[in-house]
Amino acid sequence: MKQNLLKYIKSKNIELEIFESVTSTNDLLKKQAVNGAKEGTVIAALKQTNGRGRLGKTFISEKGGMYLSILIRPENLNFDTTLITSATAVAVSRAIEEIGGVNTQIKWVNDILINGKKVCGILCESGICGQEAFVIVGIGINMFVPENGFDDEIKDIATCVFEKENNELQNKITARAIDNFFYYYNKINNKEFLNEYKQRNIVLGKDILVLKDKEQINAKAIDIDDKCRLKVEYPDGKQEFISTGEISIKLKEL
Ligand code: BTN
Repeated sequence: MKQNLLKYIKSKNIELEIFESVTSTNDLLKKQAVNGAKEGTVIAALKQTNGRGRLGKTFISEKGGMYLSILIRPENLNFDTTLITSATAVAVSRAIEEIGGVNTQIKWVNDILINGKKVCGILCESGICGQEAFVIVGIGINMFVPENGFDDEIKDIATCVFEKENNELQNKITARAIDNFFYYYNKINNKEFLNEYKQRNIVLGKDILVLKDKEQINAKAIDIDDKCRLKVEYPDGKQEFISTGEISIKLKEL
């Protein structure tokens, strides 16, 4: 299993482990990061029993997906996790398009869609151990429909790259996602991904709901700035930049 994926990865210094099933690749890699694992350590799994998404949500991770986490150790401690999340979204979108041959869109901030349905979620989590910071870049891609179909909770909003299982292409997408990620991450300061992130973003110009605590506020998404914050305008004309934190958004139309 490991060699079948490793042979497609071109990035240097990747330490890969791949499992049939884990609790959460992010949780496993975090433990390794604390114990000194080096940048480029990657944990991949075909299933997660405790997959986690943003805002404390569960990320349903049945067999049919590729779930992976990449460890990076940014030298500059002022790194911005939102930028890393956005660069990852561009990297994975490209990988799905290049290998899977399907068009993708990005929904600010961390979702990748095919025809308006979610095919991939990204969760970047940072930590500090001693003097060194680390970031775990977690990526969950629905590759094909699980044996018994998608869970009821997500069946109307989820989609996958392929109609049926194709190990070769799934490994190629995963490898390309890792390579594309390091390409953008190594140049994170020149923000090469930013234009593409904006172009691919499905939210710009759309009416949205800003979900903050228990509130749902009507707004229009008007721009994304160079910190990848979303600029929104409320019906009273007031504008605000929102960053990921505890906020998420819902599109009112596609
Ligand atoms: C989201 O959509 O809110 C983010 C989902 C992130 C899921 C990935 S799958 C690999 C890694 N391990 C996890 O537990 N979560 C991330």
